[in-house]
Amino acid sequence: MVIRMIHKRAVKYLNKFNFTNVEGKTILITGGNSGIGFMSARYACYLKMKVIIACRSQKRGEEAIQKLKEEFPESDVKLMLLDMSEEQSIKNFVNKIKEEKIDIDVLYHNAGVYRLPYQIKENKELVVSTNYFGPYILMSLLLDYLHELKHEIKVVFTSSIAAKWAKNNIDMLAPTEKVSRMTRYCNSKLLDAYLFKYLYENDKSNVQYYLTHPGVTGTALFSKAYKNKFFVALTDGFMKVMGNPLWKSSLSIARVIENYGKSGLFYGPTHLFNWRGYPKVNKFLNKSYKHTDEIIKRSEEMTGYKLMNK
Ligand SMILES: NC(=O)c1ccc[n+]([C@@H]2O[C@H](COP(=O)([O-])OP(=O)(O)OC[C@H]3O[C@@H](n4cnc5c(N)ncnc54)[C@H](OP(=O)(O)O)[C@@H]3O)[C@@H](O)[C@H]2O)c1
Repeated sequence: MVIRMIHKRAVKYLNKFNFTNVEGKTILITGGNSGIGFMSARYACYLKMKVIIACRSQKRGEEAIQKLKEEFPESDVKLMLLDMSEEQSIKNFVNKIKEEKIDIDVLYHNAGVYRLPYQIKENKELVVSTNYFGPYILMSLLLDYLHELKHEIKVVFTSSIAAKWAKNNIDMLAPTEKVSRMTRYCNSKLLDAYLFKYLYENDKSNVQYYLTHPGVTGTALFSKAYKNKFFVALTDGFMKVMGNPLWKSSLSIARVIENYGKSGLFYGPTHLFNWRGYPKVNKFLNKSYKHTDEIIKRSEEMTGYKLMNK
């Protein structure tokens, strides 16, 4: 017997909204093999959307696709390989989308890493590279194609309440080894918000932009960042008591999909310091965007990619 892994309260929540126009539309989820991305893929399958999981491991991707197929035998799910920390992988990914003329209705930038030890990859610090430069390069390469599709497209970026503790200056893009793990993560998530804000304000086309945060929820994000098993177990226990359940944290994407027509919104839980609850329209990052143009200009210099022609 196939057990559907969607929480019954999530089903109730999903059924509250008018999703009649999403059936058959395509959602592409980066990091869709795990945690929030995988739960979002389940919701998309439940809503009868076509799902593309973009992930960096063929094996983990295939396992995720298999699970979705078991839970939703009628679903249309497919895997694409993408490593957000590698420029060539992003290029290959975008080329494939263009060559195969893959239609996209929702692009969910969900893939992310947490407080990794300091590491430079392709001339960039790995946390900032994965969480921010990956989506930045992907958008730079894909935006013209999304414009050519002409129909309404929703692009969703993933921030975090951690963005509130970012240092918020131009140095966020290239942290030195002295910058703590936590600050690098916080900075990367504020940079995602900057990217969202810039595109929302400057791209007045068929593409709409959203920002989400999941609150705080127990996923593999934490165990991937720490080797200490005791600390990971402690964090898991803490998350079970204090965190937002995964099924609830993952509902932001449903709000985005449901809310056709309203670009520029920021969804996430608002209870208990924005840790917990159902996704609502958030305001907590509204005052943070003082360096937008500088950050985008510097990102262009660092990557060699222009985000968009204004
Ligand atoms: N959990 C929370 O409390 C929390 C709070 C705020 C924000 N967020 C954000 O929510 C998003 C999802 O996190 P999660 O909690 O669901 O964690 P997760 O279960 O670890 O999922 C993260 C996903 O990102 C993928 N990923 C990591 N590096 C990648 C790369 N270089 N290229 C492609 N994919 C990559 C992972 O792939 P692998 O399976 O191969 O590692 C995984 O599929 C992240 O952006 C995170 O920052 C989470």
